[in-house]
Amino acid sequence: MQRPWAVILAAGEGTRMHSSRPKVMHYLCGRPMLWYVLEAARTVTERQLVVVGRGAGQIKEYFGEGCLYVEQQERLGTGHALLQALALLPDAGELLVLCGDTPFLQPSVLQALLECHRREQAAATVLTAELVDPTGYGRVLRSEGGAVKEIVEELHATPAQRAVREINTGSYCFELAALKRCLPRLPANPVKKEYYLTDLLPLLAAEGYHLAAFMLEDAFSALGVNDRAQLARAAARLRERINTALMLEGVTLLDPAAVYIDYGIKVGPDTVIYPQTILEGDTAVGKECVLGPGTHLIDSKLKDRVICRQSTLWQATVEEGASIGPFAYLRPGSLIGPEAKIGDFVEIKNSSIGRGAKIPHLSYVGDASVGPDVNMGAGSIIANYDGRRKHRTNIEAGAFIGCNSNLVAPLTVGAGAFIAAGSTITRHVPPGSLSLSRAPQQIKEGLAHKFLKKR
Ligand code: UD1
Ligand code: CA
Repeated sequence: MQRPWAVILAAGEGTRMHSSRPKVMHYLCGRPMLWYVLEAARTVTERQLVVVGRGAGQIKEYFGEGCLYVEQQERLGTGHALLQALALLPDAGELLVLCGDTPFLQPSVLQALLECHRREQAAATVLTAELVDPTGYGRVLRSEGGAVKEIVEELHATPAQRAVREINTGSYCFELAALKRCLPRLPANPVKKEYYLTDLLPLLAAEGYHLAAFMLEDAFSALGVNDRAQLARAAARLRERINTALMLEGVTLLDPAAVYIDYGIKVGPDTVIYPQTILEGDTAVGKECVLGPGTHLIDSKLKDRVICRQSTLWQATVEEGASIGPFAYLRPGSLIGPEAKIGDFVEIKNSSIGRGAKIPHLSYVGDASVGPDVNMGAGSIIANYDGRRKHRTNIEAGAFIGCNSNLVAPLTVGAGAFIAAGSTITRHVPPGSLSLSRAPQQIKEGLAHKFLKKR
């Protein structure tokens, strides 16, 4: 059987978000709401057409060629939104209509909706759910015999109708031939002056078409997001699922409620994650690592057995067995070699650090290659910027950089060289040499009292 098409309604004003970005481009667990809906749609449908409106540019930029778009110039309701797509759709076959603000729709649910639609030979099948608290959703009204009659929006519902707990999830399956015949005749709601897609149901019934409803067992799939409080709750639910899945794959989370991991991020088994740890974007973590407490990884790759405490890593790569933090900041282009140690209050940018190198405390390393087994003492820094340009520094294998040294780039420190503590180095240091540049120490016997308060 031919796969259906999908239309995803995503042009709404999103008034309740109070945002400059379209509602469907608000993120949960690292991806916009619409991304989840599109993913689910892709698995069961042939083509996906997204109805876009305000903020259309942002949507197209994010999703690119991955789907088709149609613009709804004026936001005149869900019925009007679908009407904009009508001309682009085939004349017959099945159509799934989904809302861009229901991020938990599972492919299995869409498949079940489709199967129910076929079984019932309906012209329209609504995906419904029973909620303990149906506030905010359209209520499904059925005849005494149980057949779907209409959907009434909360705004227009009588108290008795509001008591109905079966709600419209906003997902439907339509017969395209029936839709093409009836949708253009949809009247506007007299109160809101909007075209409600839900009002199509009585219109279809009046034409003699059969209506059906498929009720979800797990209402989670139907969760709609209209404001930021709902967004936060939805994100929390998704996070719980992500964290549970990782735990079942062998990751220890000391407190799963306090660990924030974006959708799709892989973490290896026997990794232990302490609270207040956030893994974002294109991040991956190997096995047997220790992360946190208080660690933030953004677009970063950690290989196996990495320890990373109270640190921020952004577009950084850390090889096997390295140790980061507490309180390190690795900026884009940081490449930390195997077994290296990056300690407290160390910042690294656009630099590679060799195997087993140690930068244990209070250093800045920018635009440098630091060779294997180099030791940079406390407070040693690289002066990579002369006020106009950035310059590179190359520290070769096994060099020893004494505490509080300034390495003024461009510079090479040769293999096995030794730089004495407190030196400012401006010239290349040959391999194996000792280099020091300090003001000579002076001693004035008995003069300390001049600087100390009298007792
Ligand atoms: C809608 C349904 C309601 C259902 C709920 C499920 C109608 C009239 N009501 O209400 O029965 O319980 O979804 O979540 O359909 N949109 C457009 N263009 C518009 C208006 C909306 O593209 O002119 C899009 C929105 O971007 C959104 C979707 O349609 O993705 C639903 O719109 P929204 O305003 O959130 O409808 P609800 O009030 O939630
Ligand atoms: Ca909604």
